[in-house]
Amino acid sequence: MRQTPETVVLVDCGCSFVQKIARAVRDKNIYTMVIPGGAPVDRVLAENPAGLVLVAGEDAAKNDAVQAKFAGVKLPQMQAASVEDADKIVKFCMDSCGCKGSWKLENFIDEAVADIRAQVGDQTVVLGLSGGVDSSVAAALIHKAIGDRLTCVFVNHGLLRKNEPELVQEVFARNFNMKLVYVDASDRFLDKLAGVNDPEQKRKIIGKEFIDVFAEAAAKTNAPFLGQGTIYPDILESISFDGDPKGVIKSHHNVGGLPKDLKFKLVEPLERLFKDEVRQVGKLLGLPSELLDRHPFPGPSLGVRHVGAIDRKTLHILREADAIVTEELFKSGWYHKTWQTFAVFIPVRSVGMKNHQRTYDYVIAIRSINTVDAVTAEVVQLPWDLLFTMSQRIINEVEGVNRVVYDITQKPPGTIEWE
Ligand code: XMP
Repeated sequence: MRQTPETVVLVDCGCSFVQKIARAVRDKNIYTMVIPGGAPVDRVLAENPAGLVLVAGEDAAKNDAVQAKFAGVKLPQMQAASVEDADKIVKFCMDSCGCKGSWKLENFIDEAVADIRAQVGDQTVVLGLSGGVDSSVAAALIHKAIGDRLTCVFVNHGLLRKNEPELVQEVFARNFNMKLVYVDASDRFLDKLAGVNDPEQKRKIIGKEFIDVFAEAAAKTNAPFLGQGTIYPDILESISFDGDPKGVIKSHHNVGGLPKDLKFKLVEPLERLFKDEVRQVGKLLGLPSELLDRHPFPGPSLGVRHVGAIDRKTLHILREADAIVTEELFKSGWYHKTWQTFAVFIPVRSVGMKNHQRTYDYVIAIRSINTVDAVTAEVVQLPWDLLFTMSQRIINEVEGVNRVVYDITQKPPGTIEWE
């Protein structure tokens, strides 16, 4: 990645809010980078920063050590101790570091395009497109840079939401005229999953099959480069203060565990952007809100929202119920007020009545949560009318369901997904 002018480095002494500060200062058009306090001074200077902000952690000894380490560095420096210091930092950047506040995402796009061209030369890139925000924006950006020399591989593992394969193909192949290899591997996945009840085993099967299917399709393109939608928090959360793996929040899921012998060189144009910046870039590149502003969706997809063994019939029930939940959420204006809202299939049958006939059908649960970081989550109190409409529609329109329940479990003790 090229050197962005007027970079201010936030030296993280082990605090929990450094990303928030970085993000707030970027909002004032000053480019910030976060580097762990344990990094060597040279590593920080390599960013050619206009100034340093030492962001104090909760652990005093680390702050002292970091201050001592940077004491001799001839750059404007200040210390910060809370998110509220963001304004002071902006003033410091302008007054002491000579920043003009000219960093813009529009410039980011031009720079990223130039960088991708320089990195890839006249070679080709393959990218695994999931339809999620990060891989979609990475695809659009790489496509802007190298056009037809990008091939996207979109794997349908049979666990996607209603109309999702059509939506993703329509946006990319038809609207962007992008080279898109669509692999419908539904049968392969669903056959492997047949009769498997254990949630962990289901996840492992989905993960392994996914890698195999993607690797096969990617190998056919002969591309030396692999494009990825890695974003800044993925990187920040996978480095610790002093390189000790115990301090890692979560490991950067490099290529979802693609085997090392695939030997791709990585193209990761979003690696310095925060999530909402990625969305803004996507918007500037012309991606529709339908893709950019969707709720997060887990890699194993409907597979972890279908409790127990998955068969095609009950998966169909879940997919239809989920589509109704989403449709009603949009209609009522509640979609963007919740972080995730979805249907869960529960493989329990109970007695009910439909058209004066006895029924013995399955249960659908509706789950709606809000969260900041998905580590804890609270249940959203969706309006009763809305829940009632969802319930009525699911029971009337989805064959095989005669009962709908609302999941009112916080996280913890529950997790967001059921499996
Ligand atoms: P849990 O169920 O752990 O979910 O409370 C926390 C957040 O992570 C999402 N999630 C996943 N995302 N691959 C993903 O990409 C996964 O295997 C996975 N499992 C859960 C979940 O949707 C929620 O936003």
